Amino acid sequence: MSITTQRLIQWKQQGRSIVALTAWDYAIAQLLDHAGVDLILVGDSMSVVLGYETTLPLTLEEVLHHAKAVRRGVSRALIVVDLPFLTYQESITQAMHSAGRVLKETGAQAVKLEGGYPAMVEIIARLVQAGIPVMGHVGLTPQSVHQLGLRQQGRTEADAERILQEAIALEQAGVFSIVLEHIPAELALHITQKLSIPTIGIGAGKDCDGQILVTSDVLGLSAKQPPFAKVYTNLRQTITKAVEEYGMEVREGKFPES
Ligand code: KIV
Repeated sequence: MSITTQRLIQWKQQGRSIVALTAWDYAIAQLLDHAGVDLILVGDSMSVVLGYETTLPLTLEEVLHHAKAVRRGVSRALIVVDLPFLTYQESITQAMHSAGRVLKETGAQAVKLEGGYPAMVEIIARLVQAGIPVMGHVGLTPQSVHQLGLRQQGRTEADAERILQEAIALEQAGVFSIVLEHIPAELALHITQKLSIPTIGIGAGKDCDGQILVTSDVLGLSAKQPPFAKVYTNLRQTITKAVEEYGMEVREGKFPES
């Protein structure tokens, strides 16, 4: 049985933490699902595997392609798919079209949209009214990298208040959960206590209702990680060593053995 958006809301009420990670392909998605990850995000952080420097160049077609592969590898986790930059900000019609394609063509259960400013809240409310589950995302929003940089948000009283109000407006618009990215832990705690939907933190302290990280950071595959990521294993090192060993054996005639 697949995890539902309603289940995540129940887990908040029960105080059960939500475990979330990103996946961009079938193999990793299958491993995460078998390892018991509750929510898999087909994040626009997939830009790193496509060699883009930011999330901005990513297209809806690229996201659909990867989300279909993830879907094939998952039977339990809830799959949420990021709508890429400028595939939802222009109008309600554009957002409806993009989110609709994600749900119809990939089999994912929900979409994630960045931002909690009034025009975005209106777009999200319309998606929710149309039966499309939406996850919000406030704080550091990487699609606004050229405005915000990648620094922590919500450090001044005014900015913290803005982020809190955005989170409240998104809950009222009907999102089932909100990602809080790179904001002070006290602000994330305050938002988490104010909302009845679960908050999923990334660089937002330990008091969110769940945590998400980018899987390539967790596995040590990324060339560099954000300061809040934890690297649980170093696959860059492991892969380099294995490939060098293979290369040496081929050159020395040791592989294959006969
Ligand atoms: O794209 C992504 O991986 C994300 C997470 C950082 C939450 O949006």
